[in-house]
Amino acid sequence: MTRIDRSAAFERARSVMLENDRGSYTIPTKGLYPFQWNWDSCLTALGQRHFDEDRAFTEIETLLAHQWPDGMVPHIVFHVDDEGYFPGPGVWRTGRPTPTSGITQPPVLAFVLRRLVETCRETAKAEDRARAMLPKANAWHEWFYAMRDPKGEGLVAILHPWESGRDNSIDWDEALAGVPTEGVEPYVRRDTTHVDASHRPHRSDYDRYMWLVQRFRSLGWDNAQLHDASPFQVVDPGFNAILIRADEDLASLARRLGASEIAEVAEARVAKARKAFARLWSEKHGQFVCLNRVAGKLVDSASVGGLLPLLAGLGTAQQQGLLAKRIREWRARSRFGVASHDPADPRFEPKRYWRGPVWIIVNYLLIDGLRRCGLDDVAGEVVADSMALIEESGFAEYYDPTTGEGLGGGNFTWTAAIIAELLTSAEA
Ligand code: GLC
Repeated sequence: MTRIDRSAAFERARSVMLENDRGSYTIPTKGLYPFQWNWDSCLTALGQRHFDEDRAFTEIETLLAHQWPDGMVPHIVFHVDDEGYFPGPGVWRTGRPTPTSGITQPPVLAFVLRRLVETCRETAKAEDRARAMLPKANAWHEWFYAMRDPKGEGLVAILHPWESGRDNSIDWDEALAGVPTEGVEPYVRRDTTHVDASHRPHRSDYDRYMWLVQRFRSLGWDNAQLHDASPFQVVDPGFNAILIRADEDLASLARRLGASEIAEVAEARVAKARKAFARLWSEKHGQFVCLNRVAGKLVDSASVGGLLPLLAGLGTAQQQGLLAKRIREWRARSRFGVASHDPADPRFEPKRYWRGPVWIIVNYLLIDGLRRCGLDDVAGEVVADSMALIEESGFAEYYDPTTGEGLGGGNFTWTAAIIAELLTSAEA
């Protein structure tokens, strides 16, 4: 991109972020997602900091203000009423002062917070705000290992596909098949009134999503019970890698801010998780894959979740090289990278949400991971694809990797935020 193109693209990204700004939090997009989402908000702060540092901190503080007493940071905060989204607060019934959902999402918060502090202009102010957030981030990370790894194996399970952030990935098919649908209360989906139904999860998946919500609700959202009571327990390499990286970043930030006790416990969690991680490697696929904890076996599904361990520098140097090779192979089979699932798999669907489409936020996490592992050439290719997609199709929710078509919600906040972030970093 030329210099002028870059500043025009940045301005467009900024106007999307402003359009979706609700004062102290930002909605992902109008219509489809009218509340605050956990990992959307954190990644949004990365973009906001380039034009309003204060506002970026506020985004994360608002999310943390709704942390549960047990440490969980919920996946949605329902700040306002809006009938346009299902399942709303009346379905979750979590009993929180401001309604929230009852599950969580990938913990990118500390990863973002570190970046905010390290690159801010007003250092003293940023450090004070970050210092106040450290114990909260630490409580959330601790919650994961206490509640989602009850046997102390060093890896955490998600109990609902929505927790992964990759809602209907092929990764969940096998474990979801073990979730019943009997007794699911009648419901009306809203997502398919906003966007093309053929791009969204199937009804049969949705019934299972709802069954799990009802099951957890019937247990009063008591996290001490949910793990063992769930027929869906999946160890996602992408999710665990994000948690490990977040703990590394939390430790580094805590050391900088003089909170050595937090740094030590975070470092201990990282050390344990790193050792456990090797069991998620699949020789067959040459990448990491999910572990179905209920069945006690690896899942035969090569998704982008299995490439995300680059973000935490996991695996041997040779394995990291193989992950980069996967990215190149997938790019060679589609016009734009990085598809959310291996395009060579017959189950790949280029337009159906997390079963094939490219997501710019995932590209960003991969770019960071590739650079960390010294795989800069491949990182550069993923940056170039990301820029080409927004040039061609604007700030969409996700993109068809075979055509570059923008799909899902339009003027999407985190897509804009990540493009702003990439545009302002020297390598873009
Ligand atoms: C969808 C995505 C999830 C995201 C949310 C809001 O549910 O799968 O990752 O957080 O939309 O954008």
